[in-house]
Amino acid sequence: MGFPANGSSTDKPLKFLIYGRTGWIGGLLGKLCEAQGIDFVYGSGRLENRSSLEADLATVKPTHVFNAAGVTGRPNVDWCESHKVETIRTNVVGTLTLADVCREKGLVMINYATGCIFEYDSEHSIGTGVGFKEEDKPNFIGSFYSKTKAMVEDLLKNYENVCTLRVRMPISSDLSNPRNFITKITRYEKVVDIPNSMTILDELLPISIEMGKRNLTGIWNFTNPGVVSHNEILEMYRDYIDPNFTWKNFTLEEQAKVIIAPRSNNELDATKLKEEFPELLSIKESLILYVFKPNRKTPLA
Ligand SMILES: NC(=O)c1ccc[n+]([C@@H]2O[C@H](COP(=O)([O-])OP(=O)(O)OC[C@H]3O[C@@H](n4cnc5c(N)ncnc54)[C@H](OP(=O)(O)O)[C@@H]3O)[C@@H](O)[C@H]2O)c1
Repeated sequence: MGFPANGSSTDKPLKFLIYGRTGWIGGLLGKLCEAQGIDFVYGSGRLENRSSLEADLATVKPTHVFNAAGVTGRPNVDWCESHKVETIRTNVVGTLTLADVCREKGLVMINYATGCIFEYDSEHSIGTGVGFKEEDKPNFIGSFYSKTKAMVEDLLKNYENVCTLRVRMPISSDLSNPRNFITKITRYEKVVDIPNSMTILDELLPISIEMGKRNLTGIWNFTNPGVVSHNEILEMYRDYIDPNFTWKNFTLEEQAKVIIAPRSNNELDATKLKEEFPELLSIKESLILYVFKPNRKTPLA
């Protein structure tokens, strides 16, 4: 599974080139590198501009490239429905261009991709614990964002230097960040209640750095094992953060009336990641350890 990259020689000190300086995941990655004493530089090129990426590689001479750049839409992925060309430019043309220039230089590219390319179906139904595996073919193209991400994942399979990390509903311990899934659902007027696979960034981003160091490639379901539902998270929020917190649920049909593109709900099978990193916590354990305990505001019982 390892790529015999230029950066893999043991005598060469690590140097990461990271795309997505102003983004959520890219920003966190830089902080982690600083904390771990890893030399890194943020890329200044735009993904769709091949010569700007080549210039970055020539100047920085990285051992590994991390791609946390992409368009996710503001305020949410519905933006992509009305900005299809812009979405293609970065998420398709851009991501493929970066993979291609990295391959030319023999560099591993760790790509923060998405697991929102699957939806529960008859063989992977809610509550069965049967999740989608890395080799399963995406079955959710309900939103333009997901559709293009699924296409790119398929094309990137041909690049032996790429490590595709299927991130889902990312959560961090920063509960003031409006991008955090927990923050989002505590602020919604109404929420659906569906179990999903999710990514605890505080636990998994350091793992992605380790995956880079190991030169791991291929597709990885990049979520904590198991699922958690919206209501289970909101119950934890009430128990740890705000005892007076209340919320209202609504159905998928009612949700469909307030969003433009359908959203994906699924369980991903995290066995492959757990085998590589046996210390990986289940989603509920990770939520408590990395998010709710450090933020606890309610008195200990
Ligand atoms: N957040 C989620 O819910 C989520 C879930 C699953 C997967 N992911 C994936 O993880 C990746 C990072 O997500 P995020 O939440 O950190 O995104 P984010 O906060 O929206 O940040 C995106 C970053 O990408 C950069 N960018 C956009 N277009 C670019 C281009 N053409 N060339 C170079 N840089 C460009 C932005 O820089 P500028 O400001 O300069 O444009 C920004 O730094 C995305 O690919 C996303 O699809 C995110």
